[in-house]
Amino acid sequence: MSAAVPASLTIRRPDDWHVHFRDGAMLAAVLPHTAAQFARALVMPNLVPPVTDVSAARAYRERILAARPEGSDFKPLMTCYLTDTTRPDEIEAGFAEQVWLGAKLYPAGATTNAHHGVTDIAALAPVLERMERIGMALSIHGEATDPATDIFDRESIFMEETLLPLLKRHQGLKVVLEHITTAETLDIVRAHGPRVAGTITPHHLTINRTSIFQGGLRPHLYCLPVAKRERHRLALRKAATSGETCFFLGTDTAPHRRGDKEAACGCAGLFVGPTALQTYVQVFEEEGALHHFEGFASLNGPNFHGIPVNAGTIELLRRPGRMPAAVAVEDTEVVVYRGGEDLPWSIGRVAA
Ligand code: DOR
Ligand code: ZN
Repeated sequence: MSAAVPASLTIRRPDDWHVHFRDGAMLAAVLPHTAAQFARALVMPNLVPPVTDVSAARAYRERILAARPEGSDFKPLMTCYLTDTTRPDEIEAGFAEQVWLGAKLYPAGATTNAHHGVTDIAALAPVLERMERIGMALSIHGEATDPATDIFDRESIFMEETLLPLLKRHQGLKVVLEHITTAETLDIVRAHGPRVAGTITPHHLTINRTSIFQGGLRPHLYCLPVAKRERHRLALRKAATSGETCFFLGTDTAPHRRGDKEAACGCAGLFVGPTALQTYVQVFEEEGALHHFEGFASLNGPNFHGIPVNAGTIELLRRPGRMPAAVAVEDTEVVVYRGGEDLPWSIGRVAA
């Protein structure tokens, strides 16, 4: 741990390269928390029904813009949900018209609202070839989907059986492995850079699989991919804070109503939006790597995707702040990851 911790840290405004905003009342409730911390976010398309074409993505972007708090300059970056019937021309049209920045690959059934996902990834070749040609990035939820596969092995099996062959078939395709949870996936990213990158969530840096069962079953710590063993958490912390440009910030903030989490069959996803930067910067401090925080949070993502970094700055204060325990949505609420706690860092001034 670093001896001298500064009273504040000012960095370029960061981006969140993986968010779930949902729609309607949930969108209105959760969006301000992301917009308070991030200038832009890559928005996941797993709505019901999913965002699979240009007009749906344009309409969803308008609803997000309309849900921004007064005066917010937050900018959503959209994605297209790939299915077995996605057409290469549709993908290219949305990219050329700057409606979406990337496409999202959910193996069918891998997670929440992934049942319309891709059943045969090899058959997606025409779409991936087009993306390769136009320089559009593919974001991947990398988990094997056979329900018989051990849940803690799903990421590693996907990487060996599906991802590595895909990278070989499409040697120029830009790929983001999202919410990495294993040491082995980190090494795959390193071995295939710079056209392959990985995002790392705040929760996978701070919990392991035992946390989910600490003193009882903790549904609010259940997400997919599920947290793995401690050795993986330590490897993730090392990678995120290493200064390697192939890793960047993506929270996977995934709000669900309290009753949908605290249920006989609870939903996967952690609502980390309100505490994301505070958690990340704490990890960087603990690892003695505050000097690498700006790269991870604000530079590596835009550089990978080929868009400009943000012009403004955000100040992070080494001053304790009490986090909200939950955020109200209609007649219920969404429980905040690390909510109700005093976190050592808080958000300071944002300069556009
Ligand atoms: O835990 C998760 N929740 N993982 C995902 O991949 C999807 C997300 C959601 O949409 O709730
Ligand atoms: Zn997600």
